[in-house]
Amino acid sequence: MRFLNSLLCAASLPSLLFAFPNLPFKTSKRWIVDSTGANFTYIGVNWPGAADVMIPEGLQYSSIESIVSKIKSLKMNVVRLTFAIEMIDDIKDNGGDVTMEKAFQKALGTSQGNTVYQQVLKNNPQFNATTTRIQVFDAVAAELAKQEIYVHLDNHMSKGAWCCGTGDGNAWFGDTYFNADKWKRGLQYMADHGKKWSSLISIGLRNEFRKPDKAGSSLAYNWQTWYTQVTAAADIVNAANPDILIFLSGLDYDTTMSPIPGAGDLGGGKKFQLSNFKYANKLVMELHNYQNSATSCDSMKSGLWNNGFKALDASAVNQMPVTLTEFGFSQADSSYNGVYASCLRKIIPEWKAGWTVWVLAGSYYIRSGKSDYEEVWGLLNHQWTGWRSNSAINGLKAMVDASLK
Ligand SMILES: *[C@@H]1O[C@H](CO)[C@@H](O)[C@H](O)[C@H]1NC(C)=O
Ligand SMILES: *[C@@H]1O[C@H](CO)[C@@H](O)[C@H](O)[C@H]1NC(C)=O
Repeated sequence: MRFLNSLLCAASLPSLLFAFPNLPFKTSKRWIVDSTGANFTYIGVNWPGAADVMIPEGLQYSSIESIVSKIKSLKMNVVRLTFAIEMIDDIKDNGGDVTMEKAFQKALGTSQGNTVYQQVLKNNPQFNATTTRIQVFDAVAAELAKQEIYVHLDNHMSKGAWCCGTGDGNAWFGDTYFNADKWKRGLQYMADHGKKWSSLISIGLRNEFRKPDKAGSSLAYNWQTWYTQVTAAADIVNAANPDILIFLSGLDYDTTMSPIPGAGDLGGGKKFQLSNFKYANKLVMELHNYQNSATSCDSMKSGLWNNGFKALDASAVNQMPVTLTEFGFSQADSSYNGVYASCLRKIIPEWKAGWTVWVLAGSYYIRSGKSDYEEVWGLLNHQWTGWRSNSAINGLKAMVDASLK
């Protein structure tokens, strides 16, 4: 019986019924559906690639294949892969993308950069001295597709660095490094480039808008500016790649999209109305939540609902899917059992909303000037060889199972 089942599964059923990747995806009211009309819920993890080196993290400790296998073992179906606009600026303005060798040298210094680069090659022998950063993204996307995991691209930063602060120059349109035109060009480039990736389903326009410390050079920090910039970028992305879903993120570190579900006044006579978009069935809302010291799940729940999840409800003017693309907590203590983690583990699957947890890492190439930075929020240990905490991972597996139901 078992033999027969596995024979059937291996041979005929997958190709007929579950022909990954079933692209393109679209939305249908509050659901995301694949090309066969089946519901799809994002269940995944963030894989950072937008820090100083601008290469997906972990490759000095592991092969891409092995990292992807770990994601697969959790039964996750998507990776939120982050990138920096600076990579595309280099491609467009500075004579092409830089090699991974140069990228490591630039971010870590020549000597340490060389050491780390050699470790990357040792673990990932398909790369060589001509391999560029974007070719590493290509390789990550190819392996994810091979293991039947979808890619959601996320523009995390303009300048490649750890994110996010109000003083990091990447907070808002016109901030020190946040050139709105280059941002749109970068999104256009990645949306187009991603057509080569067989499992790209979506792109997030920008991670965590926030009010910049530096006043003056920035555009006004408000919903009106948000609307103008975000809809212009969405138009560009949709023209570059009409197949992919476009994730819209909100203000205050993407903790609020409160005026969007009800099509509230955004200022200057602007209102967000799905019916105004030719590609309304490609738009998804994303929110982040880091209320790590919460003491009441009820209050978290009503906060998340009012800040945007109520777009899931049939009563919303703009009924649409909402995905929690970031939440996370230390894997080095019992946070997985606290109010915050337990609450999200319960309510997000109950709402049948998608999610991607922060973060697939054990350590970073470099963060905030410190190389080989230990990431205690990372699901993996420092050397990316195994889980940081089996208890925390079991909690995450419970959330996966609840969402798959
Ligand atoms: C998607 O899931 C919801 C809730 O379970 C259900 O009502 C809806 O019919 C599903 N859609 C499809 C196409 O299966
Ligand atoms: C070097 O790496 C690139 C990108 O990873 C690949 O396309 C190319 O075939 C490789 N060249 C050699 C000689 O292996």
